[in-house]
Amino acid sequence: MTGRTSLTIVLAAGEGTRMRSSMPKVLHPVAGRSLLAHVLAAVPRGAGDSLAVVIGPNHQTVADEAKRLRPDAMTFVQQHRLGTAHAVLAAREAIAHGADDLLVVFGDTPLITAATFARLREPLAKGAALAVLGFRAADPTGYGRLLVAGEQLVAIREQADASPDEAKITLCNAGVMAFDGRAALSLLDSIGNANSKAEYYLTDAVGIVRQLGLQASVIETSEDEVRGINTKAQLAEAEAVMQARLRQVALQAGVTMIAPDTVFLAADTTFGNDVTIEPFVVIGPGVTIADGAVIHSFSHLTEATIGKQALIGPFARLRPGTVIGEGAKIGNFVETKSAVLDAGAKVNHLTYIGDTHVGAGANVGAGTITCNYDGFRKHRTEIGAGAFVGSNSSLVAPVRIGAGAYVGSGSVITRDVPDDALAVERGEQTTRPGWAKRFREMRSKAKAKSAPKTG
Ligand code: UD1
Ligand code: MG
Repeated sequence: MTGRTSLTIVLAAGEGTRMRSSMPKVLHPVAGRSLLAHVLAAVPRGAGDSLAVVIGPNHQTVADEAKRLRPDAMTFVQQHRLGTAHAVLAAREAIAHGADDLLVVFGDTPLITAATFARLREPLAKGAALAVLGFRAADPTGYGRLLVAGEQLVAIREQADASPDEAKITLCNAGVMAFDGRAALSLLDSIGNANSKAEYYLTDAVGIVRQLGLQASVIETSEDEVRGINTKAQLAEAEAVMQARLRQVALQAGVTMIAPDTVFLAADTTFGNDVTIEPFVVIGPGVTIADGAVIHSFSHLTEATIGKQALIGPFARLRPGTVIGEGAKIGNFVETKSAVLDAGAKVNHLTYIGDTHVGAGANVGAGTITCNYDGFRKHRTEIGAGAFVGSNSSLVAPVRIGAGAYVGSGSVITRDVPDDALAVERGEQTTRPGWAKRFREMRSKAKAKSAPKTG
């Protein structure tokens, strides 16, 4: 919307009691980020766009999340829940400041898109005082019904106040509205609470606009986009819709997935060209996958950067702070955390690499453990470029394995190993020729003697 300034008010005061959770509702995650973060990603955020978030009392965590995502966000507390119009007026100071368009959206509708906000603002640019986002509900129970006459919106009737005929209407209020910013404050101030719930209904703004002879419009969207979250079941439904969207975006970006329905992505996952993700992979927040990388089945990645042509898994667990270099390999049953692997490094089997830097081309053998934790603090391990760590070794941090060094299999390394050295730490091998044969003969004779006679 060129040239018009906006103020978006996000109503995020919901307790989320029906979520059966101590966490405020809008902080619950969908595709790895909070409901509030999804809404804030969709609202206008240009130079002339401001944002106010209305939170419940004692919900500082919601204010913190808003500020984290939009440092310019204003936050207001609604002390008592007296209705949606009352909640909007908690941000009176921001409204009074003035903007061309005033947008109101609920913080628990994470599937809303930026394109819909743009469409909703169009009627305002053409002179409407109010535009309401509507959708055709499969089951309209509980929603406000939109009463229309031709192109014009006449009123919104809340479920509790609807006549039997009005209750049959399936065109419903999504809860997203756009007001002409100059008229907004006086409209909101004239809303009363003479209804069955004695609440100040934001939806009453429609009737007031009409009484003033001004124009109110409806913009329609799909039900999927405006699903509100009140329960864990609805949270799971929203997750499913979001995952379907994210998979489509990934496929369109050229990611190969032979079973996309089994791959879980995060809203911020990014892909290079020719990335392959095999079935049953879970990707959490903060993951970047570069050109040509392959994520094999049953891998779990969070806050990890995967370099070009790198191979991950199957059954790999990449935890926060993992950076995998170009062409590097992480194999099955390998866990990494705060681990940087330079180009071509290999950690192929049954290994834990934590708080570690692995140099280019180093090879970490099966069953290697970086012992990074002494029960009190974490310590770092450095494995130099081209080093070879034999299988079943423990590297007790802080420790450094030099470039090109060898660690003999089964070693417990507690002191630094210089470049190009060999370090072996294990008992000397004893070999007794013929011992096993003599042992077998002795034992079978003894057994024959002691066996009870039969027949
Ligand atoms: C509201 C709409 C209804 C619409 C439906 C869509 C009103 C009066 N009704 O009904 O037309 O079809 O949403 O989901 O607007 N809130 C506050 N403070 C309050 C009351 C509500 O912050 O005092 C917030 C809630 O946390 C929630 C949102 O406003 O995010 C909507 O409130 P809710 O009680 O869910 O309204 P509905 O009855 O669902
Ligand atoms: Mg609701």
